[in-house]
Amino acid sequence: MHNKFPHLFESYKINSVSLKNRITMAPLFTAYAHKDGTVSSLTLEHYKEIAEGGAGMIVVANAIVDESGSVSKHSIRVDDDRFLPGLSRLADIIKKEDVAAVLQINHGGHFAQGRKTFSPSSVSLSDLDLGGLYKTALKSLDFQQQLAVLSEAIQQHPKRPKKMTEDDIKYIVSAYAQAAVRAKKAGFDMVEIHGATGYLPVQFLSPRINNRKDQYGGNLENRMRFPLELVRAVKDAVGNDFPVGYRFLAEEWIEEGFSLNEAKIFAQRLSALHIAYLSVTGGTYESFSVPEIKEKSHELGYMVYLAGNIKEMVDVPVITTGRITAPQLAEEILREKKADFIGLARPLFVDPKWPKKAYEGKDEDIVPCKNCGACFQLVVSDRPALCAQWGKSKLIKRKTMIKEVHNPRKKILIAMDGSENATIAAAYAADILTNRTDVTITLFHIKTDESIKDESGIKEMMDIARSILIKAGIPEKSINVEIRQKKAGMGNDILNEIIEAGYGTVVVGRRGVSRANQLLFGSVSNKIVQNTKDCTVWVVE
Ligand SMILES: Cc1cc2nc3c(=O)[nH]c(=O)nc-3n(C[C@H](O)[C@H](O)[C@H](O)COP(=O)(O)O)c2cc1C
Repeated sequence: MHNKFPHLFESYKINSVSLKNRITMAPLFTAYAHKDGTVSSLTLEHYKEIAEGGAGMIVVANAIVDESGSVSKHSIRVDDDRFLPGLSRLADIIKKEDVAAVLQINHGGHFAQGRKTFSPSSVSLSDLDLGGLYKTALKSLDFQQQLAVLSEAIQQHPKRPKKMTEDDIKYIVSAYAQAAVRAKKAGFDMVEIHGATGYLPVQFLSPRINNRKDQYGGNLENRMRFPLELVRAVKDAVGNDFPVGYRFLAEEWIEEGFSLNEAKIFAQRLSALHIAYLSVTGGTYESFSVPEIKEKSHELGYMVYLAGNIKEMVDVPVITTGRITAPQLAEEILREKKADFIGLARPLFVDPKWPKKAYEGKDEDIVPCKNCGACFQLVVSDRPALCAQWGKSKLIKRKTMIKEVHNPRKKILIAMDGSENATIAAAYAADILTNRTDVTITLFHIKTDESIKDESGIKEMMDIARSILIKAGIPEKSINVEIRQKKAGMGNDILNEIIEAGYGTVVVGRRGVSRANQLLFGSVSNKIVQNTKDCTVWVVE
């Protein structure tokens, strides 16, 4: 028995999974995955560091079950077997430290980005009162970043999500089930269904948001139908020996929203289905920025009362989260049986060694989360999470790794205006990159009025540039050609493409098409130099 924190360091078994203590990492989305949803070296580094810190269980945040449910360009995805190798590495890295590895699976519903999105009631983001959430998030960014985020938001939320038909519901339920099977295959010990924060299951549960007239809307029984079907399908797919937990919303904290009374009934139903645990939270994106809720969420242990209320109703373990910054408070919560586990999201992000320090009685050395909100503001605006409290060297290391994931330097765009100078720029790049097989190069052309008149000339220039690169030993499959219609002007179109596709290096000739256009293209290269962020520009003379 641990002298100082006997309850905190008591072991426990969730089904057959052993947990060495009662400290769990609550899911904290970081936007550290590659743009294609694969696990990055940065994701591995982040979770390895947390695992080494001594928690008993880690919930990897926000893995997307279907493309229609993606809430960020940098979410981990689990909707296809091609994601298995990365997910396996991630599960291994966590389990190697004797930590239970849990994958949280999610569909964003009306919060999702992308071409095809679903929601129970076709609610669009403009229908929701997000209480200045995005406004506050944008405040932390510089002007160029704000423009990028806004232009992306416009592109990504252009339309209402599709109101789900019963076939869509079946399709999404099956996507959750298949995702859970994949998590099991990858070696995770459990999955956690994300049923909080306002995502798809909450959109069905909430009487404010769900305005369906069929068997999935109306009274509580109907509103619970989707999440309960989901849990049954996931459990059937993974089998009885594989624990399925649930991130649980106990209160929407908004008038006429999902209430604690309804949540208690829902919790009993989940308990009857033998859910492995309930990880209890309050609030959704709509309530997070309401002033009273903001104030309440500054208090230490601000969601413990919700966990206590739910714990009274169920026979399954309950996790409580929310500003549990010190082991003394965690110990007290467990001693008073208000919860069975402590969930730490930001406290472990700030100081991954929180559990180790508590175990060694060095709890005075824990760097506590100050609730500054920086990590949350960053991820809400689709930028990678950082912590204002990290020391300089960790911050620099993390930022460098982020750059490689978000804007890998080996992903190179060569701006091709069809001029001799652009070809010279391509030749320069070929010379520097001779025999590099680890780069990907895109020859990028924006159609201008002039180039439209000379399509064969443009094609010829592209072919010449391509053959120069191939001659220099760059593999053919690593060279792409992109020709786009002009939208916002050559410079802006190139800048948008750099942000959209996440290029880390851009090569551009100083001057352009013709003598008459030299001045113009000169200004394009200046514009690119002045306005790119997280991207290196080679301006070739
Ligand atoms: C940056 C950030 C990202 C989060 N991402 C998720 C997530 O992906 N899934 C989830 O269920 N909760 C998420 N949460 C909520 C946390 O799990 C937790 O409930 C909340 O931060 C309060 O706990 P804490 O004080 O220990 O951070 C996130 C919170 C923050 C600050």
